[in-house]
Amino acid sequence: MLSTFKEEINVGKFYITTPIYYPSDNLHIGHAYTTVVADALARYHRLMGEDVYFLTGTDEHGQKIQRRAAAVGKEPQAFVDEIVANIKKLWKTLAISNDDFIRTTEPRHTERVQQIFQRLYEQGDIYKSEYEGLYCTPCEAFWLERQLVDGKCPDCGREVERVQEESYFFRTSKYADRLMAHIEAHPEFIQPVSRKNEMINNFLRPGLEDLCVSRTTFSWGIPVPFDPKHVIYVWLDALTNYITALGYPDQVGSDSLFARFWPAELHLVGKEIVRFHTIIWPIILMALDLPLPKQVFGHGWLVLDGGKMSKSKGNVVDPVVLVGKYGLDAIRYYLLREVAFGADGIYSEEALVLRINTDLANDLGNLLHRTLSMVEKFADGVVPVPGAYGPLEKALINEADETWQAVQEHMEKLEVSGALTAIFHLIGRANKYIDEAAPWSLNKQGNHERLGTVLYTMVEVIRVSAVLLSPYLVESPARIFAQLGLDPEAAAIGLEAGSKWGLYPAGTKVRKGEPLFPRIDWEEAAEVTGVKKEAPPEKPVPQATTKKAEPTATAATTQEQITIDEFAKIDLRVAKVLTAEKIEGADKLLRLQVRLGEEERQIVAGIARYYQPDELVGKEIVVVANLKPAKLRGVLSQGMVLAAGDGDNLALVMPEKTVGDGAEVR
Ligand code: ME8
Ligand code: MG
Repeated sequence: MLSTFKEEINVGKFYITTPIYYPSDNLHIGHAYTTVVADALARYHRLMGEDVYFLTGTDEHGQKIQRRAAAVGKEPQAFVDEIVANIKKLWKTLAISNDDFIRTTEPRHTERVQQIFQRLYEQGDIYKSEYEGLYCTPCEAFWLERQLVDGKCPDCGREVERVQEESYFFRTSKYADRLMAHIEAHPEFIQPVSRKNEMINNFLRPGLEDLCVSRTTFSWGIPVPFDPKHVIYVWLDALTNYITALGYPDQVGSDSLFARFWPAELHLVGKEIVRFHTIIWPIILMALDLPLPKQVFGHGWLVLDGGKMSKSKGNVVDPVVLVGKYGLDAIRYYLLREVAFGADGIYSEEALVLRINTDLANDLGNLLHRTLSMVEKFADGVVPVPGAYGPLEKALINEADETWQAVQEHMEKLEVSGALTAIFHLIGRANKYIDEAAPWSLNKQGNHERLGTVLYTMVEVIRVSAVLLSPYLVESPARIFAQLGLDPEAAAIGLEAGSKWGLYPAGTKVRKGEPLFPRIDWEEAAEVTGVKKEAPPEKPVPQATTKKAEPTATAATTQEQITIDEFAKIDLRVAKVLTAEKIEGADKLLRLQVRLGEEERQIVAGIARYYQPDELVGKEIVVVANLKPAKLRGVLSQGMVLAAGDGDNLALVMPEKTVGDGAEVR
């Protein structure tokens, strides 16, 4: 049977869909999450040169919408029209690159659904009978007594209604074995794997009941063509959008969208509707003798305070407000990076601000700013021709190549967050490279050839990073290209070509501009949005360890040795440098403003000969936090920085990766 399916693989095309959302209310950050992830995937595949089709839309029929419209005294169509306009605006705001937007109230959809229903009826897959069952209106789902949890809907925990009516049924049971065989033969069909097991164990093994596919108790739906007192039950109406939008069943000729893109490579959905997409939808397709989508991926939820965000609970976060406040790329970055795709993630505005300040402002923004400052200062703003690459450059170039490989591997597995982690690892390496290559010393030594190589390398690693970031961030790559003196459009070439080392044209004049991502003050930000007055969770203030030293034979105190208790008296902490400046009349000293968790301090350090103030901003350093305050050249110093080496070779001690200021050093 399976062999009758058309299974040809259209290499080089990528049809991706989101769920079509209910326009029962404006959408929230949870819906934005799915759509932004789908958009990043679509952009990635386009930049890989594939033929991409990206579909989203709205699911506008059903009892829930009819009731909501009635509650506000509107006709259902007028009610959804307004919300759909907002949804379209939202996708514009988020720079969603969908190729089509299907509304289930459009004639192109309703007519095709009727044709599909008619065909399934004529071939005996749909029949009329009597329905008695339990219905959850908010979920638009029927349940059997035994599926209820404490007598309530197993999905949302709300009351179900007992309904009895004449209905049309779809013979899903007839296809159950075929579906099971398909799922077993195609392990990639339902992802992540945990959801596949759930479908098999909870739904397929206990046996499928024929599915009710029409209702007579409400009218806001597509009429059954040959029995118009029935409307088509929403899931048959909704799921078929993925093919009606491509023209099925009437436009399926060789030059049609349907021929070009069906079957879909990926239906991206939330985990609560995996069941509909991996059981009901494939069975509909089998009955129509159409190939099945390659993959259904059920991602986790963004939750708030331990509960799912939901329009009906009213605890929603409006993405439009967030974009207005933090900017589009910040929101996209947060959604794509914060949650390991597949798992549930906790949405928090504080975590969003932290992401902006650390990854975007500090790591990426600073890298660009430092680099352009140095190109201006050491090379009159013109990027020099590189000389021979040394070991530091070779290591970084190798890292850039590996990042490109890692991005591909992650994206093939839909690990969008993993791809971004890899790119930001490269950005972190680039920042470290600058510290190691120390262009300011090369400048001082007058080593122009090496200085040129280092400056070129700094610029080129930024260009490569901007290319790699372009499926995820939609404004910053162009801004980076422009600041690097490149034509943003010409620089935005495909990922594969664009990630090749050495494409940056030496001799180009850079154009330093506004900081990419200004740092956000969380206290102020919380004030403005009226985020629940909850202060950022107190970071546990690290206590000096009180662990007792192990009394061992070798722990005898000598002049050189101290006990662990003595060591514990020194409160070593990670501090973040907020500002750094020279002190008038003291050419060895820098005045640093640093932050240790909740606390800010001023520290004076004798490092002016080794560091430019600019180099230090944003860095995490290590300080002795409980040193008695002292005045140096009349300036108060509340602590001491740790540095290694002496003479010409002095270096500040820094954690090997970002650990957050305030962290204890032990
Ligand atoms: O279910 N976290 O529409 P819907 C993550 N019309 N994703 C979330 C989310 C959250 N807190 N809340 C919603 C429907 N989503 C049907 C679909 S498809 C043929 C018909 C996302 O408006 C997630 O993708 O309730 C989820 O599956 C979808 O929105 C549900 O949107
Ligand atoms: Mg839902």
